[in-house]
Amino acid sequence: MKAMRIGIVGSGNMGGGLGRLWAKAGHQVIFSYSRDDDKLHQLARLAGETADFGTPTEAVTQSEVILLAVGFSVLEDVLRDVGSLDGKIVITCVSGLQPDFTGQTIGLATELKISVAERIQQLAPHAKVVEAFNITFAEVIA
Ligand SMILES: NC(=O)c1ccc[n+]([C@@H]2O[C@H](COP(=O)([O-])OP(=O)(O)OC[C@H]3O[C@@H](n4cnc5c(N)ncnc54)[C@H](OP(=O)(O)O)[C@@H]3O)[C@@H](O)[C@H]2O)c1
Repeated sequence: MKAMRIGIVGSGNMGGGLGRLWAKAGHQVIFSYSRDDDKLHQLARLAGETADFGTPTEAVTQSEVILLAVGFSVLEDVLRDVGSLDGKIVITCVSGLQPDFTGQTIGLATELKISVAERIQQLAPHAKVVEAFNITFAEVIA
């Protein structure tokens, strides 16, 4: 297996869990984007020797694969802040559902009839965007 450099942007239930699995499988993982640096530090420590933490920009510039695992409400701000995603494989698990699951914020049932992945592709046209894990509950990954 070729070890890959994977930047995690959004180190909560999904990003923390997937990043930990990927680090345990031998990939180089950088956890980023939390309001709590201690949490990022702990995640990296528990994930093992191939894991580290940093800013979202560091996670993006130092990685060939990026996992976007943030809430949809902050997604566009995050994409503006992280710098160029040109040529990167960008995996998104970001859901377009309202946080209380009562409806969609983006998607076929809204005026903007595109998926979250299509919106990311619009904002980062030279990235290779892949939607995955967005119907997998974090508990399953944990
Ligand atoms: N949970 C699931 O089972 C599940 C399943 C499929 C898809 N999804 C989707 O995956 C995405 C992530 O879900 P999640 O459950 O992993 O969410 P989460 O646990 O809340 O993680 C979100 C991450 O973003 C960070 N964050 C949020 N606002 C921030 C801000 N203003 N500044 C800095 N960091 C900020 C959080 O930081 P803090 O550490 O400071 O909170 C956290 O690390 C969402 O779009 C969700 O809809 C979730």
